[in-house]
Amino acid sequence: MNKTVICPGSFDPVTLGHLDIIKRASKMFGKVYIAVLVNSSKTPSFSIEERIELLSDAVKGLDNVEIVSFEGLLAEYCRQHGVDAIVKGLRAVSDFDYEFQMAMANKKINPELETIFLTADSDSMYLSSSMVREIGSMGGDISNFVPECVHDRIVKKLKKN
Ligand code: PNS
Repeated sequence: MNKTVICPGSFDPVTLGHLDIIKRASKMFGKVYIAVLVNSSKTPSFSIEERIELLSDAVKGLDNVEIVSFEGLLAEYCRQHGVDAIVKGLRAVSDFDYEFQMAMANKKINPELETIFLTADSDSMYLSSSMVREIGSMGGDISNFVPECVHDRIVKKLKKN
């Protein structure tokens, strides 16, 4: 489908769940932006620069994927850059309220903008960046949760925090 979509998130840090959604979106759509953004209700462990660097390595080889980062409203960015839809992963029912609220708010700001939810695959149903941060910071094994090529850097950073 020759559409431009955007996968927004904190990516603090990138997980295999994120990567699964990004790979599936890159097969379905012509162009996929990944937007590394500030979520004002969260205090990140990784800087924006670190998150972008990890993501860049994780998506290497996906030719129609481009990483962006900006301040301001996602829906306005989409309007200015010809983005047709937001693509987000939906894990369990617990994600739904939060994601639905964001989708509605984004649509109010930019009525042309759709939000498409892809269901998380069964391996990623339980997976979140906060879980990775917690397990990693306590010295636990996160190798099943994050892309292999960025595993060591994530472990190192979480141990320092
Ligand atoms: O991975 P997250 O933290 O659930 O992602 C949330 C994110 C970053 C997509 C959201 O906070 C966002 O879109 N921030 C950009 C500012 C914005 O547009 N806020 C209004 C969203 S309704």
